[in-house]
Amino acid sequence: MLADRRTVFIETYGCQMNVSDSELMLGTLAAVGYEAVDSPDGADVILVNTCAIRENAEQRVIGRVGELKRSMKPGSIVGITGCMAQRLGPRILDQARHVSLVIGPDGYRALPELIARAQRGQRVTATDFDLEEHYEDFQPRRFDKVKAWIPVQRGCDYKCTYCIVPYTRGPERSRQLDDVVREARGIVEAGMTEVVLLGQTVNSYTDGTHDFADLLRALGRVDGLRRIRFTSPHPNDFTDRVIAAMAETPTVCEHVHLPMQSGSSATLKRMLRRYSREAYLAVVNRLRAAMPGLGLTTDIIVGFPGETDADFEETLSACRAVGFDDAFTFQFSMREGTPATRLPPELAVPADVVQDRYDRLVATIRGMARAKNLSLLGQRRELLIEKVARDGELLQGRSRDFKTVLVAADAAAVGGYLDVELTGTTGSTFTGTPVAPARPERQPLPLAG
Ligand code: 5AD
Ligand code: SF4
Repeated sequence: MLADRRTVFIETYGCQMNVSDSELMLGTLAAVGYEAVDSPDGADVILVNTCAIRENAEQRVIGRVGELKRSMKPGSIVGITGCMAQRLGPRILDQARHVSLVIGPDGYRALPELIARAQRGQRVTATDFDLEEHYEDFQPRRFDKVKAWIPVQRGCDYKCTYCIVPYTRGPERSRQLDDVVREARGIVEAGMTEVVLLGQTVNSYTDGTHDFADLLRALGRVDGLRRIRFTSPHPNDFTDRVIAAMAETPTVCEHVHLPMQSGSSATLKRMLRRYSREAYLAVVNRLRAAMPGLGLTTDIIVGFPGETDADFEETLSACRAVGFDDAFTFQFSMREGTPATRLPPELAVPADVVQDRYDRLVATIRGMARAKNLSLLGQRRELLIEKVARDGELLQGRSRDFKTVLVAADAAAVGGYLDVELTGTTGSTFTGTPVAPARPERQPLPLAG
């Protein structure tokens, strides 16, 4: 009945884990009768799933939450979820009178009930950590139709000194291997062929019995699954077992996003990353030796307290030594409650110096990516076609080594695979021309009899 139709709108900020959490929330609300809508205007429930990783991420959300007031109708409720909700808790309710729900990342199980309480006029905060919470029985409502995100681990135990995540997502915990495999089978049944395993330090996955190597090998045996990716690993958790499982599981893609953060051992020490420049470069070498043609991307922070010009030069030289395919680059943002706040204030790097280093880093990464991509022209790649590109005509696909390639093909090809030759590059993305698929090296023998 139309009068009973209840609608929910979720706006998501931040990392893939947050996108995945929004999928869980939508699934839960769909199960109790909510319909997801594409606009906040007039929705019964408006949720903003937030990120707290850097201050500018929070500033954007604060502006947006103010704006959403205009989308409310009588009876609408606005809720803030995710890392900023966890970090600020009831302080959000004090500052934004139109917000009636504040729910941290471990509170989504009770979402329907919390919404019902808000609809009865209460203002609710739910920010307790729950070490048992894996959302294993949740049925996500996935946004993407081509690849599926699977959260396999929640929280983080590393406590890098700059990072708010251990305080917003709590301690590390992993899902049971069987449960992840079951979800992957369901994803294949739903017509998708690529999974991306998510965790804050995903390769430290352990369900008590199985490690990340076991998980990769088990997923490698799922019929119909053609591509396995994961993000983000920690360099220290690439054991020989994990690297061997990657190399020996044909569906594990030749791409690793390996956050480096800095190329200076002194800075890494102050960041409490628990590896040195040399140790990071050694992990890169081990990965490359095991997986020829590996694509490598990274995260780098500039301007961490105490970073000298010489430290920064070491970051640039480490980037050149690795030859990253691409990098996410960040200016350090001091987060309340993190260990970095206890570093001596005189270690702070002046804003103009940070900006200058940032610009130089971006230019270095761009130049490196361009040179690498130019060197790949003429090579062939298998693409999973993800969507129609922004221009509305070409299709956009991804190679196993994580290159974005635009190709002219019929829109019906979305979700399928296409072999292309890389014919052009803008420096960051490619254009490709379809070619006949490479012949498998060995034809299967016909069955006797
Ligand atoms: N300031 C700047 N960048 C940060 N990151 C995490 N915390 C901060 C911070 N306080 C970056 C790291 C991490 C990525 C997700 O965000 O590079 O890998
Ligand atoms: Fe933050 Fe470090 Fe955990 Fe990554 S591993 S989320 S950088 S604390």
